[in-house]
Amino acid sequence: MKICCIGAGYVGGPTMAMIAKQCPDIDVHVVDLNQARIDAWNSDKLPIYEPGLDEVVAEARSRNLTFSTRVDEAIAAADIIFISVNTPTKTFGIGAGRAANLEFIEKCARQIARVATGHKIVVEKSTLPVRTAEAVKRILSSAENGATFDVLSNPEFLAEGTAVEDLLSPDRVLIGGESPVAIAALANIYATWISRDRILTTNLWSSELSKLTANAFLAQRVSSINAISALCEATGADVDEVARAIGTDSRIGPKFLKSSVGFGGSCFQKDILNLVYLCEHFGLREVAAYWEQVVSMNDYQKRRFSERIVRTMFNTVSDKKIAVWGFAFKKDTNDTRESAAMYICRDLLRERARLSIYDPRVSEKQIRADLVTACSDLQGQICESDLKLIETNVTIEKDGMSAADSSHAIVVMTEWDEFKEFDFTKIYQSMQQPAFVFDGRNLLDHKKLALLGFEIHAIGKSATV
Ligand code: UDX
Ligand code: ADP
Repeated sequence: MKICCIGAGYVGGPTMAMIAKQCPDIDVHVVDLNQARIDAWNSDKLPIYEPGLDEVVAEARSRNLTFSTRVDEAIAAADIIFISVNTPTKTFGIGAGRAANLEFIEKCARQIARVATGHKIVVEKSTLPVRTAEAVKRILSSAENGATFDVLSNPEFLAEGTAVEDLLSPDRVLIGGESPVAIAALANIYATWISRDRILTTNLWSSELSKLTANAFLAQRVSSINAISALCEATGADVDEVARAIGTDSRIGPKFLKSSVGFGGSCFQKDILNLVYLCEHFGLREVAAYWEQVVSMNDYQKRRFSERIVRTMFNTVSDKKIAVWGFAFKKDTNDTRESAAMYICRDLLRERARLSIYDPRVSEKQIRADLVTACSDLQGQICESDLKLIETNVTIEKDGMSAADSSHAIVVMTEWDEFKEFDFTKIYQSMQQPAFVFDGRNLLDHKKLALLGFEIHAIGKSATV
């Protein structure tokens, strides 16, 4: 059995590495157009950071896991082809800012149709709008060499930062399709290490929609608790206490109730906007408006946080040094896509603050590129003054202590564990007074910090002085 995966990103790379690790008899070939990314997958420094991933890749790479740019060759040889390419939100034309851009999916389908011979199973791994499989099937039906295909939907539910754990022991594997033979072939691969009762099968459209729905529900929980955090700040309630109290109700459950500066990541916003677009397309205006509110609440939460920083710091942060701890959209990943940090930094920069940013895993190049993106419009245009601010007012530091040195405030953007272990006595002494902490993750020990003299402003809590 040979597998090809088109797209060596955050989904394709770890997923294929796990399949190759668990199934030594299957040849797994991951291909990508991006040579630098492939080179990194073949090196000791993988292009993505995930706890435990280095070991999985190292074990399989010398055996049955290959990374290359030889897309045609991999497609031709494979029995099963996974499509795991990016599907960003469209930035142009019809549906701009909402619909998924399916250009890369379509190009893959056309390439498969051109190169394939015999019979192949094509698996949609990327998250896609409902009925994309219809389009993929039609393109494949124009195959030049008489090839035939079964199309399956097998969305990936792994979360970044816990990808290896999630792949090793997923809550469920979902396979949607029409052909029982193709579904069984894919299910048998997963059944090597996952119990059969966790492998669910549905029709194609249910599978595609389930992925969008799962992400919408998860994001909705975060927006719901974040909405309550605003009310907590206004009333003196504590959002963590409220979350604990409601989370003990077994019908609600404790997970995904951590109030934050706003959700980020490549999926939540994109998938909800996609869902909204689909609902509008089908004339379901009320349903679209309902889900769109989850994203609006997230934008409000980010805006509210930057406004609170400025207001608290005597209504001006101009020329003040602000330490930003964390830039990734969550801990244990180097991914910054849609990270709240980039928007908070943008807002503070436009208030003329001087930012010292530290993240244990995100490179300076990435941070600067993200700030440019955050300051740009949908067409990618950025004004001269924003560009200049990014050049002159942003420093990237190699550790959190240097970032905080002589600063007026520390802003916690990502919940990295190491931040909790810093020497806050030293940090306090090195800072300007009053020494503000804005904890966007409710990560630090606020009582302890207050005793040291810090003034703490956290999400969904009254200020601790
Ligand atoms: C998500 C889904 O969880 C996963 O199933 C899907 O395959 C891809 O999208 P991911 O974006 O990698 O995964 O991470 P996730 O853990 O879901 O976090 C998303 C964002 O929500 C992060 O910014 C995180 O910090 C935030 N979040 C999450 C909260 O603010 N509070 C919470 O309680 C949980
Ligand atoms: P995800 O988070 O969904 O994995 P990424 O952006 O991390 O998304 O990865 C998608 C990868 O797919 C990128 O590395 C991109 O270069 C690759 N890709 C996109 N289109 C094609 C294509 N037609 N052939 C091969 N690789 C592609």
